[in-house]
Amino acid sequence: MRQRNVKNKQEILDNSSYLIINPKEYCGKWKNVFENNNPIHIEIGTGKGNFIIGKSLSNPEINFIGIEKVDSIIARCLQKIPEDIPNLKIVRMNALEIEEVFNKEIDTIYLNFSDPWPKKRWHKRRLTSEIFLEKYDAVFKSNNHIIQKTDNKGLFEYSVVSFSTYGYTIKDFSLDLHNSEIEGNIMTEYEEKFSKKGNPIYYIEVEK
Ligand SMILES: C[S@@+](CC[C@H](N)C(=O)[O-])C[C@H]1O[C@@H](n2cnc3c(N)ncnc32)[C@H](O)[C@@H]1O
Repeated sequence: MRQRNVKNKQEILDNSSYLIINPKEYCGKWKNVFENNNPIHIEIGTGKGNFIIGKSLSNPEINFIGIEKVDSIIARCLQKIPEDIPNLKIVRMNALEIEEVFNKEIDTIYLNFSDPWPKKRWHKRRLTSEIFLEKYDAVFKSNNHIIQKTDNKGLFEYSVVSFSTYGYTIKDFSLDLHNSEIEGNIMTEYEEKFSKKGNPIYYIEVEK
């Protein structure tokens, strides 16, 4: 995601009660952050936050954590959070370090419009490569549960193969999410942009 520098981003980051910049300190203790035992869902690469904000507002019984590595984008996301939302946190981190941040405490991972890394030599950087799937094993509480949306056919096909090879079972699947029977979709910024262009949105939900 290209993002122009946000002038007062440091001030926005410093003054947000939603942002966590030292997430490794909470490894194994995220229920203390939310002060309850509710399930925890994370979105990796949360961008400007439409999805995670919408999810947390419509599911108060679930705790949501948006993971993002770029400060300017985090600042845009924090600016959008409309009101006091007790079940939402934004974490500044690179997903490569996810095993050091969560320990058997996550119920669902959302991967929305992840960077496609189109060249073959970049495929291992994809958030559904075996490298990342191995890391996710350490963060899930009991069953692994991942939901992915993308408009990128190459990334989608790669993910279907990668999930299946790694032992995941497909629970739900659509080659055109917006014209499917799957309910309760919350759009991301990229989803709005690409669906306006007429691109179909691919969707897959897997479990292990
Ligand atoms: C293509 S954008 C999609 C943003 C949003 N999910 C959406 O659908 O509108 C991908 C986002 O993932 C973030 N990202 C990519 N790799 C990441 C990583 N390893 N750890 C954390 N964030 C990452 C990028 O900074 C960017 O904001």
